[in-house]
Amino acid sequence: MDIARTPSNPDGNIEMADAAMQPHDPPEIRREDYRPFPWLVPDTRLDFELGLDSTRVRSRLTVVRNAKADKSPTIRLNGDGITATRVKVDGEPTSAFTMDGDDIVLTLPGDAHEIAIETEIDPASNSQLMGLYASNGMLCTQCESEGFRRITFFPDRPDVLSTYTVRMSGPKAQFPILLCNGNRVATGEEGADHWAEWHDPWPKPSYLFALVAGDLVANTDSFTTMNGRKVELNVWVREGDLERTQHAMDSLKRSMKWDEEAFGREYDLDLFNIVAVSDFNMGAMENKGLNVFNTKYVLADPDTATDGDFDAVEGVIGHEYFHNWSGNRITCRDWFQLSLKEGFTVLRDQLFSQDMGSAPVKRIEDVRILRSAQFPEDSGPLAHPIRPDSYREISNFYTATVYNKGAEVIRMMRTMAGEERFRQGTDLYFDRHDGEAATCEDFVKSIEDGVGLDLTQFRLWYSQAGTPKVTVDLSHEGDEAVLKLGQTVPETPGQPLKQPMPIPLKVALFDRASGKHSGEQLVVLDKASAEYRFQGFAEKPVLSINRGFSAPVTVERSIPREELVFLAARDDDPFARYEAMQDLMVGHLVAAVGGTLSDDERRGGREDIAEAMRAILTDAKLDDLMRGELMIMPSQTYIAEQMDVSDPGRIHTEREALKAELGSRLSAEMHALYDRAEKIPFSLEAEAKGARKVKTLVLTYAAASDPAKAAELAASQYERADNMTDRQGALMVLTGLEGVERTNKLLDFYNRYRGNALVVDKWFALQASSLHPGVVEHVKALAEHPDFTLRNPNRVRSLYMAFAANPHGFHAPDGEGYRMIGDLILALDPINAQTAARFVPPLGRWRRIEPGRAAMMREQLERIAEAPKLSRDTFEQVTRSLG
Ligand code: ARG
Ligand code: ZN
Repeated sequence: MDIARTPSNPDGNIEMADAAMQPHDPPEIRREDYRPFPWLVPDTRLDFELGLDSTRVRSRLTVVRNAKADKSPTIRLNGDGITATRVKVDGEPTSAFTMDGDDIVLTLPGDAHEIAIETEIDPASNSQLMGLYASNGMLCTQCESEGFRRITFFPDRPDVLSTYTVRMSGPKAQFPILLCNGNRVATGEEGADHWAEWHDPWPKPSYLFALVAGDLVANTDSFTTMNGRKVELNVWVREGDLERTQHAMDSLKRSMKWDEEAFGREYDLDLFNIVAVSDFNMGAMENKGLNVFNTKYVLADPDTATDGDFDAVEGVIGHEYFHNWSGNRITCRDWFQLSLKEGFTVLRDQLFSQDMGSAPVKRIEDVRILRSAQFPEDSGPLAHPIRPDSYREISNFYTATVYNKGAEVIRMMRTMAGEERFRQGTDLYFDRHDGEAATCEDFVKSIEDGVGLDLTQFRLWYSQAGTPKVTVDLSHEGDEAVLKLGQTVPETPGQPLKQPMPIPLKVALFDRASGKHSGEQLVVLDKASAEYRFQGFAEKPVLSINRGFSAPVTVERSIPREELVFLAARDDDPFARYEAMQDLMVGHLVAAVGGTLSDDERRGGREDIAEAMRAILTDAKLDDLMRGELMIMPSQTYIAEQMDVSDPGRIHTEREALKAELGSRLSAEMHALYDRAEKIPFSLEAEAKGARKVKTLVLTYAAASDPAKAAELAASQYERADNMTDRQGALMVLTGLEGVERTNKLLDFYNRYRGNALVVDKWFALQASSLHPGVVEHVKALAEHPDFTLRNPNRVRSLYMAFAANPHGFHAPDGEGYRMIGDLILALDPINAQTAARFVPPLGRWRRIEPGRAAMMREQLERIAEAPKLSRDTFEQVTRSLG
């Protein structure tokens, strides 16, 4: 799972948060150039002699000509920064090969051969964390997308599936646990060394290979599948972490059960291992039978993890488990098809989480992530279709577009098909393509055939980038409501002209008097404009549209404010109710920032928002989890997204002013809510989670309206906290305020949790995302803190990704925030290119920022572009951002 997925701070900000040195101008790889590989590799044998600084890898590949591909006299074995100490063909040393860059190109005379290659690698010096690397004295791998070629020479492409048998040996004291894909078939000892042999019966591409060796302990359990097969489950962690693994184990068992029930998918090995690793470029990785996880998505207990962390663990465990079918049993033909597995698997994990908790709240959270991470991507220089047409470095395409918009696109198919028929489509897909390396087209065709739906025009969602804009106009004629809809798909890099796409919109028309509607309808807008008529309305109804966020579009409705107030108070679709509240606030803030409001209009706007918010605060029928969603203000990024060019400083000022006004006008209601919530004792049930959520939200409003009172309340919440959610929430609020409690509690928090890396990450992130006026100086000081290091991606993200996502710091008027991110990218690029490149997109938004800041952002991109040696990752992102 990609790292950029969890909302961190309830104030509406979203924490966002993945190689080798390369000369300038790496080649562009194009989707249309795909050709099948001329060879099949039915069998792969690997022998690892493990050592932290030196690991010897011997491989033996059986290769046979691929009858379905053009005949070639050679075979290309990819390598990346490795050298072969020996190459043999059919048991004989050979020199019948050439090096093409880092790849070996071997001449093979016959139709079937055995290739044996020996390499020696140094895991301890692998700071890129791709391939085989050392983390805290253990050895582990990350191969997706192109890490396997850093271990040994191989056709490192997802359409070459092979059966792996792996022998690993090493010092028993250093590596007591030896894990690989599949099943362990033999073990033994030789003096101080021991070895294990593993066999994975399922043919797989090299990116799904994994190996782990280290001093680990397991939480062990089992799951009995729908056909009565007993599967051993292990969650492997370092000694002291065992007591924080139960939630991960429970989540795994729930995932396995859910996939059987929701998609009919049964697990297919007798063993399923999860390993937690603290140095990891992304969220987690679905290697066959051996998922490797960032510790952040495994370890959780109430003292160290927030409610959000618990949910994220459940979601990512589900995501990686679901890949066993959507990703592993059916993999991708080439990396352009990445959304085939990622978009579908994100949808599957979203549906899983919806079923495990509150479905409407989960839906709103997912839309919020889409809007803050994907919409800006889709409207900027890095915009690309969910199935890209070209790339230079595939790691740069593990994006919110491929993952989250990819999920939305499949969700639309589900909405149009209906749940039951959609299941017939996915059944057909799994059945038809099991064991294959498939394409997005294969998926769409299966849904089309299984469901009985014509998706010809719908395929445009795979090829066109950009977030469609839908215009809405409702009028009233006689007893008819007339709905006029229009769509445009904006221009994106390389795609000046767009065609209309099918946009499924759920709509309902509310009768003003009764406050009710007579049923939701699905309207599919598939032309540039269309008109729909609804009979039986004596007076003009109130329109609720894109209910449930049925399509990933922006809706421009010129709707009177009182109708938004109406919907915010009574829409029976929770998402639509949230949307009305957001629209009300966004509309006001955009106008306020644009300077078009008279004093009277400003007052009127704030009054309406306050009244709508009052209804939310006091609605006894709302549960607190949902109430919390409705209370969250639109993020600064989302507000900026509504304007062609924006001034971050002005948005910040207006947003804080509105927050302060709501805090003071609704102080009585908010504090009553706080007092009620405070009485609910800690548990992981929805009611208690909701209580914690609204408590911290009340504090954020109070911080804007009455900082002294907020500081007092937050300090007391901090002191009395018996869980991380309350403690972190209180500390977040304090961190944004001046005063002695800020210093005291930050110090207390650090001392209390020093040594727990994941909690220390929170400590860095809180300070980097704070609203404190000194945030830039704080981040500079934290970069010098003894616990800060560029070698651990979680730590880098906790300080700098939090900072880059904090408009108040990143967009400091003097450009210091941009310079800091520029410096970071240059310093990090040689160490961890994947992670460094992830910091380019924030600077790449320059075109949408007011000219003064835009020039300074551009200046940083140019400075990076001029660096003498840049990774392929960073080079590609910087040139696209400037282009
Ligand atoms: N496939 C992994 C997932 O479950 C993520 C791998 C990310 N790889 C990368 N090169 N960024 O989403
Ligand atoms: Zn994934």
